[in-house]
Amino acid sequence: MSVWAILAAAGSGERLGADRPKAFVRLGELPLLAESLRRLDESEWIDAVVVAAPPGWEEPSVLLAEELGAGTVSAVVAGGATRAESVRLALADVPADAVVVLVHDAARPFVDEAVIERVLAPLSEGWDGVVPALPVSDTIKRVEGDRVVETLERDSLVAVQTPQAFLADVLRAAIAAGEGSDCASLVEAHGGRVRVVPGDPRLLKVTTPEDLELAASWL
Ligand code: C5P
Repeated sequence: MSVWAILAAAGSGERLGADRPKAFVRLGELPLLAESLRRLDESEWIDAVVVAAPPGWEEPSVLLAEELGAGTVSAVVAGGATRAESVRLALADVPADAVVVLVHDAARPFVDEAVIERVLAPLSEGWDGVVPALPVSDTIKRVEGDRVVETLERDSLVAVQTPQAFLADVLRAAIAAGEGSDCASLVEAHGGRVRVVPGDPRLLKVTTPEDLELAASWL
C-alpha cells in the first residue's frame, strides 16, 4: 500500500504578525515547516511527501528538505489562495497508483507515529477518510453578531486536527467535485464515510505568537 503525505504549508500566517509566511517563522533553530517535514520523512508509514509551499518560497523549501536530509520529499509545489487549493495543487503531484493520501498542516509541528497509525488503520476497514479529534471542553454557542442563537450539544461535538488520512481515489473525486476548506468535509459532502479517532493535545495548531512560544517550549 503506498502512502503519500501532503504537507500544507502555504498559509500566510497573518495572525502571527511576522515578516514572512508562517511555515518560515522560527521554531527553535529552524523554520516551523522543518519539524513536521522531518517527522513525516522519518515516519515508517509514509512513502513520499509533497509540500505545498508558500508561493515564492518553493526554493527555500527544497533547500530545507535537503538540509534535513528528507529523502522522501518528492515534490515542492507553490500553494494556492486557500488551503483546499493548496491541497488540490499538491495532489496533482501524487501519482495515480498512490493508495492513501495523508494531509497534514505544517502549522501543527508535533505530528507523531502514534497518530499517523491511528488515522491509517481504519482505511483498511472500509472507511474513506479518518480524522483525529479532541472532545471540546468549552460550551460552544452559535451566534449571529453578538447575539446567541443556539447552544450546541457538547457531547456530539469534537475539534478536528490533522493529519487526516483518505483513500486517494476518494480524496481526488471529492476535491474535483467541491469547494471547501477542509478535506474531510469535502469527502463527507461527496458521500464518503469519515471516521473520527482520538487526536492529541500536542497537535496544537500554531496560530498566534503565544502558540509559537508554547510550541517552542515543547521542542
Ligand atoms: O491558516 P491556517 O493555520 O488555518 O492553515 C492551516 C494549514 O493550511 C497551514 O499549515 C497553512 O500553511 C496551510 N495553508 C495552505 N494554503 C493556504 C492557506 C493555508 O497550505 N492558502
